[in-house]
Formats: sequence, C-alpha cells, structure tokens
Amino acid sequence: MKTIFSGIQPSGVITLGNYIGAMKQFVELQDDYNCYFCIVDQHAITVPQDRLALRKNIRSLAAFYLAVGIDPNKSTLFIQSEVPAHAQAGWILQCIAYIGELERMTQFKDKSAGKEAVSAGLLTYPPLMAADILLYSTDIVPVGEDQKQHIELTRDLAERFNKRYGDIFTIPEARIPKIGARIMSLTDPTKKMSKSDPNQKSYITLLDDAKTIEKKVKSAVTDSEGVIRYDKENKPGVSNLLTIYSILANEPIERLEERYAGKGYGEFKADVAQVIIDALTPIQEKYYELMESSKLDDILDEGAEKANRVASKMLKKMENAIGLGRKRR
Ligand code: AQP
Repeated sequence: MKTIFSGIQPSGVITLGNYIGAMKQFVELQDDYNCYFCIVDQHAITVPQDRLALRKNIRSLAAFYLAVGIDPNKSTLFIQSEVPAHAQAGWILQCIAYIGELERMTQFKDKSAGKEAVSAGLLTYPPLMAADILLYSTDIVPVGEDQKQHIELTRDLAERFNKRYGDIFTIPEARIPKIGARIMSLTDPTKKMSKSDPNQKSYITLLDDAKTIEKKVKSAVTDSEGVIRYDKENKPGVSNLLTIYSILANEPIERLEERYAGKGYGEFKADVAQVIIDALTPIQEKYYELMESSKLDDILDEGAEKANRVASKMLKKMENAIGLGRKRR
C-alpha cells in the first residue's frame, strides 16, 4: 500500500475551502492508502495565536477530521507537537534548505506582506512541512493548489538530502483535485478562501448554521452580467459558486449551466446555499457528538503512539546518515 500524508493547521474554524480542497479527498483515499492525517499545530504558531483559541481549534480540528469521515481504524490521526521527531527533522531540513528558496515561497510573501514584524518560523515553516511528509516515506500528499509550491520544495529538499547522504527519502508527489483545488473568497473571488481572513463574510465555516450560510452566499460578490456561466477569468464569483455547487451536489458544471439558463442570481444563490447546508448538516451533527465524547482523546493518543514509532525510526536514519550524535546500535 502506498502512503499518504496531509496536514491542516488549527488556525481557525475549518472552511469550505479546506473541506473541498483537502478533507473531502482524504476520506475518498483512506480505503486504498496507508494514511497519516495531522493537526499541524506547530505550523499554526508561525503567526500569533491566542493560547485558549489554539487549544480549542486543535480539538475542534480533530473532531472535524472524524466528522467528515476519517476512520481511525484505517487512518492515523495525530497532533504534530505530540510527535517530537517533526521538529527535530524540521531542523535538519532547515539546514538543507537555502534562504533564497524559502524567501521565494508565495505563502511567505503573502503572509508577511505589510507586516512590521514577521516570525522567523514563517520563513522556515516549509522545511518543517517537508519533515512532516518525509518522516513517513510518503508517496502522495493530497492538498489544495496553494500548497503545490511547498510540495515542490519538499521534493527538492528530499532529493538534495538523498544526493548528499544516501537514499533515505521517498520523493513524494502532490495530489491536487481537478476541480475545487482553489475555492475563492466570497467577498473577493480573486483571492482564495482562508480561515484566518479577518472578514468572516469571506468564508463559510463547517460550523456555520443555515441562516448564516444563506446570508453569506446571498451577499457573495458576483458580477452584473446576470448569466450563470463558468468563466474563471471574467466571472470569478459565479464560477466559484458553480464549483462549490458542482462538487457538493456531485453534478457536472455544464449540467448546472443548462439548468440555470435564463434564471437569475437570486434563485441560483438560494440553491447554492441549500446544497451547502445539506452537505454540512450531517457533518455538524457528528462533530457536536464527538466534541462531547472522550473517544477523541483515545483516538489522538493511539495516533500519536503510532506516528511516534514510525517517525522516530526515520529520524534515526537521518541522524545516522548525517553523522549526528553517536552511532546507534
Ligand atoms: N481556498 C481553498 N481551496 C481549496 N483548498 C484549500 N486549502 C486551504 N484553503 C483552500 C487546503 O486546505 C488544506 C489545509 O490548509 P492549511 O490549514 O494547512 O493552510 P492554508 O493552506 O494556509 O489554509 P487556510 O485556510 O488559508 O489557513 P490560514 O488562513 O491559516 O493560512 C491544504 O491542503 C490547503 O491546500
């Protein structure tokens, strides 16, 4: 069985973008792959986080993984900071990475733009992400489009390491969904939907209730043409809503265009909202049930134990290859 690794930051409540771009594919893949799904809390602290909110978001993200359909009998679910090998291997890979290539990362440029003070971690987080992936000899990393550049860097670091120190790492590949890889903001459809966007109207969280979803979709920015047609360049708002509808209702975009020919944005938006509500209601029911139970901690304990076993073996291999510490017997 090939291995899959992917992570999500507990930097806010999960959005429809995170669900469509990442989580939905995780569920579809877990029957056919050896899967590791991680709550990457060490990545979240590259930007300031409130202590209590972070703790809450970590637990909440674990419940979301399970509520969307991750099965702990098939997949390993764990918290990054509970597996110390990630930070240790991350340090080694920081020493393999060049500052120039880290400065070229689009996410670093976006998140540091206009900020007076930026943490060093924001710059060096891609090697930590590379460690997350490489520790498990990952073959495939299912992610949204925004993470493509980081996976390319992971491949470069793995190849550089292998060349210098011997063939230790499997070279992973990104798996990006054909549609839905970049769900856009509802208030600015030229920007991706992000859970840490200060404007709450720009995203739909997996916990939004029906009224909130209706309001947010109703006020989503579209255009003045009044035609429901997929055209990413000229009609990014309508195209985004068509993408969301198509994925959640499992209907091709062309069929939706035919159905809404001659109809107005009001009717279309009301239907998009309903499709989102129908998709999120069962997830929300399971989520609240899980948040109340102690099952969550048992699953995370087991996940950390398994991840620690696998990751610490790879870390030892890395350290031996480089010559760190003493030779292990
Ligand atoms: N808008 C999006 N459309 C499709 N996929 C998306 N992903 C994120 N936003 C979209 C995918 O979700 C996974 C988890 O992302 P993350 O939490 O690790 O960080 P991110 O990519 O930076 O996501 P956010 O929501 O924008 O978080 P913040 O605001 O904290 O930076 C990844 O697979 C990502 O591609």
